[in-house]
Amino acid sequence: MNTLLEDAQAAGASVGLTADRITINGGKPLVGRIELKGAKNLVTKAMVASLLGETPSELRSVPEISDVRVVKGLLEVHGVKVSSVGADTLMLDPSNVESAHFEVIDAYAGSSRIPILFCGPLLHRLGEAFIPDLGGCRIGDRPIDFHLESLRRFGAVVDKQPQGIRLTAPNGLKGAKIELAYPSVGATEQVLLTAVRAEGTTELRGAAVEPEIMDLINILQKMGAIISVDTDRVIRIEGVERLEGYKHTALFDRNEAASWAAAALATNGDIFVGGARQSEMLTFLNVFRKVGGAFEIQDDGIRFFHPGGKLKPVIIETDVHPGFMTDWQQPLVVALTKAEGVSIVHETVYEQRFGFTDALVDMGAQIQLHRECLGGAECRFGQRNFNHSAVIVGPTELHAADVVVPDLRGGFSHLIAALSADGASTVSNVGIIARGYENFIEKLRALGADFVLEA
Ligand code: EPU
Repeated sequence: MNTLLEDAQAAGASVGLTADRITINGGKPLVGRIELKGAKNLVTKAMVASLLGETPSELRSVPEISDVRVVKGLLEVHGVKVSSVGADTLMLDPSNVESAHFEVIDAYAGSSRIPILFCGPLLHRLGEAFIPDLGGCRIGDRPIDFHLESLRRFGAVVDKQPQGIRLTAPNGLKGAKIELAYPSVGATEQVLLTAVRAEGTTELRGAAVEPEIMDLINILQKMGAIISVDTDRVIRIEGVERLEGYKHTALFDRNEAASWAAAALATNGDIFVGGARQSEMLTFLNVFRKVGGAFEIQDDGIRFFHPGGKLKPVIIETDVHPGFMTDWQQPLVVALTKAEGVSIVHETVYEQRFGFTDALVDMGAQIQLHRECLGGAECRFGQRNFNHSAVIVGPTELHAADVVVPDLRGGFSHLIAALSADGASTVSNVGIIARGYENFIEKLRALGADFVLEA
């Protein structure tokens, strides 16, 4: 596996960011307007879905982030022609997918979790698939057992080899009854992308129902799939013989929206996040308001601002949708260091998503991590010795420090911390942030941040 620095450099370079470090003169409010594009966690899957079509697909509102580059590279290795039309539209033409160049897949996989989602589409198209060692943020063990078990239920044969996993489907793929032990986003997408072309009906119980999954279902339906979603996490898919390409504008990135909202709050700022919508962010908006943040919902976006006064502590438990998303927790924790009193964040989705708090403590925050499930129900990690609850005692004034980005969302929280701290902080490995935040350097500039980039 690559080092964190190598991952950061590769991710940054792929979107033209040559700097490894940013020195931020903090203590100034972020004020202004930024525009969102499509959600990283939808766009990358939508690109994979194009493999299932017999005709080209057109995906709009694609952000310029390195995870998109990684998936583009992987699709091209498999013979999909990917071309850009205008600023943010991709044409994905799968008509020449005949065989995969397995020997080069590894080089393209980068630090991404997406290759696992190629399995179903490739098994349908080619009868085989090869999945290299998976990357992604270092925020927990991140097993793929649900994925492999689901694929076996469809009839795939899974062969684990030293270089990766080889899959074949000697008897084709057939609809199956599948129940997930936990509503995994990726495993739900795996089942959807496989079931739509499998013979017969698939019933998925315990499915994740994140808005990004609903948008993937929208795309698959446009392609010709038959999918129904019940209110009790049950998804039924009737397999069809042929799917066409799609035309689709990707759902906005609500994780990025929440990140800028947290940045506005922590820096006493005022940011209009163009493209953000209320309905996919209800849970975030409730918490934002409880902490003391203010927002105004407009037709073309949401204004997030610090209305003055003291911030208040909250108790949050991260959860699958419609709960409070795990990806929102890291940026918001920075604002919680400024709230008057004791906040608790119980992380129930990933067992190790508090690594980023070490840097905040170095900057003067009072944060203690606990193995117990604090502030809510017992979760899967309760008896397993993971520091997955954080107690944040505020208010604390953050002071400048030199910090190293550990993962995507943790990295953004380090940026926020540096922006809100007095003095000059250096944040290293910023390329990691380019995995999921489009043009974040230009956006910081537009919001009036005072910083210098260093190679
Ligand atoms: N899990 C298993 N076995 C599996 C799959 C998942 O035990 O086979 C566990 C995971 O270890 C984790 C939990 O289930 O504890 C949830 O994982 P999930 O599969 O839902 O996550 P994912 O699909 O790998 C996506 C996003 C994450 C986001 C989560 C939760 C993408 C590319 N990634 O990950 O996004 O946090 O869903 O919503 O869509 C990010 O954007 O920074 C990010 C990490």
